[in-house]
Amino acid sequence: MLRDVNCGELRVKDEGEVFTLAGWVRKIRDHGEIIFIDLWDRYGVTQVVFSPEDLKLRERAKKLGLEWVIRVKGKVKKRPKEMVNPELGTGEIELVVSEFDILNKSEVPPFVVKEDLKAEWELRLKYRYLDIRRDMVMRGFVLRHQLMQKAREFLNNKGFLEVETPVLARSTPEGARDFLVPSRMHPGNFYSLAQSPQLYKQILMIAGFDRYYQFARCFRDEDMRGDRQLEHTQIDIEMAYPDCEDIYELGEGLMVYIVEGALGEKPVTPFPRIPYKESMEKYGTDKPDIRNPLIIEDYTQIAKSGEFDIFNKSDVTRGIKIKKLLTRKEIDNFERVVQDVGAKGLLYLINEGGKLRAPFAKYFKDLDGFGVVRGETLLLISGKTSEVLEPLGVLRNELGEKFELLTDGWRFLWVTDFPIFKWNEEENIWTPSHHIFTQSVGDLDKVEDDPGKVIGKLYDLVLNGVELGSGSIRNHDPGVQKRLLRVIGMTDEEAEERFGFLLRALSYGAPPHGGIALGFDRICRLLAGLESITEVMTFPKTLTGVGLMEESPSTVSEEDLKELKLEIKKDE
Ligand code: AMO
Repeated sequence: MLRDVNCGELRVKDEGEVFTLAGWVRKIRDHGEIIFIDLWDRYGVTQVVFSPEDLKLRERAKKLGLEWVIRVKGKVKKRPKEMVNPELGTGEIELVVSEFDILNKSEVPPFVVKEDLKAEWELRLKYRYLDIRRDMVMRGFVLRHQLMQKAREFLNNKGFLEVETPVLARSTPEGARDFLVPSRMHPGNFYSLAQSPQLYKQILMIAGFDRYYQFARCFRDEDMRGDRQLEHTQIDIEMAYPDCEDIYELGEGLMVYIVEGALGEKPVTPFPRIPYKESMEKYGTDKPDIRNPLIIEDYTQIAKSGEFDIFNKSDVTRGIKIKKLLTRKEIDNFERVVQDVGAKGLLYLINEGGKLRAPFAKYFKDLDGFGVVRGETLLLISGKTSEVLEPLGVLRNELGEKFELLTDGWRFLWVTDFPIFKWNEEENIWTPSHHIFTQSVGDLDKVEDDPGKVIGKLYDLVLNGVELGSGSIRNHDPGVQKRLLRVIGMTDEEAEERFGFLLRALSYGAPPHGGIALGFDRICRLLAGLESITEVMTFPKTLTGVGLMEESPSTVSEEDLKELKLEIKKDE
């Protein structure tokens, strides 16, 4: 090795010893007589000193630049008391340099590499290697590594086998657009990059693996938002003979194990289970943040007991009560927020010092029935059930954030019993609400008459308001599977064409099976306390799908296209 120790290693006990270390020149303080340099690597920072005694050495050191890679040899010296830096592991010592050499120079960096970096995200991405070369970014990746090892440890101990499946796959219906890869050997044919190993992992159960997991890269050509990237990693899990409870137990065990193992913190257990319908009614979302104590309640009956048209002409009136006296301005702001997500308006009822105030007061004999006590404000939205819940969900989040109502901690929950199908207004068809390879909770008697009523053995794992994972107990009966595919408008021939390989496999003794996939990037970013999954991805894409560092996507040569028998049509 070119070095004896790394930059985070030396301590007072090493005083008087001679060591060689290597690293990046992070900071230079040139006091003329004496030069201090902070040498950085991912283990820490060591202060190295070019002392007044060695003029020649100092003259050479003056030529060093930021982010150059150097190697220094010197004696460890205890720092004087007033120079101790308690923030650094190496803060009590410094290395007095006797020799050094330059291992590599650096161009002047496009931004100063430091912890409180102000550079634009785009510039950081273009020079991502410089951006990552910092403690706060590196910490996210160290945590990612630890979480990965802990997850492997847990699943290995439970008898799961880590198995890989193809990335070059056949288009599977995960709901997003596929990335297509042209086949050179079969011109005109395309692989699709697997959106997830969903069908492969089901077939692995038929192959007898019994318990499978994989850190699977998944590719989806979808619009990117904060928590979505074109490629992401899932902890993908499947097992034979489970019921929902087995998956909940496994998922809870896994999450507790990795959170405790990597952070030393204990999430609140057991993870509550909330059916989808209840989650929508109580929280206005299928991924509620249960650190927020506010809940949505039904005021339809009391609202309809007066003469107020808006209440009387609406199907439902639901609202959220908060122990705060909201100002008109605050209410107006919240109204704008809920209107942006489809609410017609926001009504209020305030109890200020025992006096009830509401814009609809004159239509009621009294307002006591709303149950608003002193110091409380009730915010109400009226309309169709489908129009009021989501805006109230958004309002609940806004209130929680603005008035800092969220409690601390890792609050997981299972949202269960999703409907298998949802109605697609635009295309006038039933589509799978999650995916279609799912068993129903009851029998399927009425599935053709009223698909919307069929509940699936479907579940999501949610953490602090973020959907972490999703899964289901699958259909192992090819006949039932075909029946469900017919509901989404797929004839048996089309089903055969697209999923023939799955249906065939299911007909060779498929054991009952089920599983889950947990979004690993989301887990890492939440546990690292970061705002975006891109912070825990090495080289993420921008929102428009561009890899700024390597400049992807890019054009390819005429020869490559020719070989693939592809032609690019110029945009007219
Ligand atoms: P689903 O599509 O819900 O399920 O994905 C599972 C989890 O993966 C994460 N995730 C993403 N993370 C970052 N960027 C994306 N574009 C992205 N898309 C999804 C989320 C999500 O909860 N095959 C099924 C799972 C199963 O049924 O076993 C599936 O892929 O955290």
